[in-house]
Amino acid sequence: MGLFKKTPPKEPLKNTQKTKTETTSFFFFWKKNKPPTAVVSEEVLVETPASTQSSSPENSHTEQSTIKKSGRFASIKTKPAATTINDALNYVPPKKTPSILPGSDGEHELQEKIAAKPRAMNFYNKQVLSFLAPEMQKFIEKQEFLFVSTSDAKGECDCTSKLGEAGFIRVLNEKHLMYPEYRGNGVYASLGNISENPHIAMLIIDFYKDTIGLHVNGKARIIENEALLQFKDNMPASVIAEITKEGHKKPERWVIVEVEEAYVQCSKHIPLLKKLDKRVDWGTDSEVEKKVDYFQLQDIPLYDRLGGDKAIEIVVDHFYRKVLKDEFVAPFFEDVDMDAQRQKQKGFLAMAFGGPYNYTGKDLRTTHERLVKEMGLSDKYFDHIVGILKETFQELNIHEKEINQVLELLATTRDDILCR
Ligand code: HEM
Repeated sequence: MGLFKKTPPKEPLKNTQKTKTETTSFFFFWKKNKPPTAVVSEEVLVETPASTQSSSPENSHTEQSTIKKSGRFASIKTKPAATTINDALNYVPPKKTPSILPGSDGEHELQEKIAAKPRAMNFYNKQVLSFLAPEMQKFIEKQEFLFVSTSDAKGECDCTSKLGEAGFIRVLNEKHLMYPEYRGNGVYASLGNISENPHIAMLIIDFYKDTIGLHVNGKARIIENEALLQFKDNMPASVIAEITKEGHKKPERWVIVEVEEAYVQCSKHIPLLKKLDKRVDWGTDSEVEKKVDYFQLQDIPLYDRLGGDKAIEIVVDHFYRKVLKDEFVAPFFEDVDMDAQRQKQKGFLAMAFGGPYNYTGKDLRTTHERLVKEMGLSDKYFDHIVGILKETFQELNIHEKEINQVLELLATTRDDILCR
């Protein structure tokens, strides 16, 4: 959903490159403690030095003028106010009726198609706000469960849960909230997405008392502890206490969200849960505590875990790029049809990685026989090729233990390849 539909920025927004000025502008809005007249990110993004706007008389008669901008929006096209009767007469209104409804064009079209519009209008009218109502604020400050959805610049999504003690999500005002990022598995999927694309959807659910939920959608940015400390006089005391505490439970950083939509997740299907005792070891790396083997992935072949044929293709292409650049072994491949060779090697390596392929030592012996007899293929070349393969695997970030397993298997082919 997106209240008062705005055109999403063409380019990914690099939150990591935010400047200090932007951080300050966020706090400026926050301190006012009322819905800002312009949203933080847009205010930051659309800030344009007056001197860079094209206002020359030559431009005022063109159909569209372009405001040159520094920063992420390279240019923004605007229609100038009509200055002559002809301009006014030539004005072509936009084809589509503008919408002040929350939500996407897709959801509006579906509502029409399946005759759900009256129900949807009822929901929009009664439930959807662009800020946090007082009761929503109180609700958030008691909750322990937050589900967060983000997507990268290409729109590929990730959904994760953020859990904390009751009140770990802080409401700063009706347009802003923030939540801590504790130590996790080191992947940073949601923060990585936010660094490319600020759009965020959150679902906060009360499973223990009222069985109700709250959706909050908006724009997120990442704020480091140190940056928050600069504003400690204006921060809730609990945030400063959390930042300055030592140990695993200290947040690594925070996500601040500017609220664009807030609406209820109805109670109907939310189960009422009872909390039993469970020790929670914050920030632990213990594989037992984390139950990392829960889905028993250790028996799934490396071939499947790497991503099947597609991954093997990347491995083989990278390997042969290196081989053909290598003066020591490249001469062996001079008269070889490399497309066919890549194909064969993909089959072989897929098998070596545990994929559903068959390859026999006999094939390897026959193929390399000519090379042994006519070109002197010997141990030193074998070792060199194995070295390039190892480097390839390392550069593609295959785990050391698994590299060694594959290399052990390759070692068993030495006598066939060298025709001994
Ligand atoms: C770990 C060691 C090696 C493995 C697993 C391996 C694997 C293979 C495979 C699967 C093929 C395709 C066989 C077929 O036609 O079905 C092949 C062909 C070939 N290999 Fe190797 N190889 C190894 C070492 C070497 C070395 C050390 C060299 C030379 C420096 C070499 C040079 C070639 C060449 C030139 C061909 C193409 C032969 C032709 O089409 O006439 N290989 N290899």
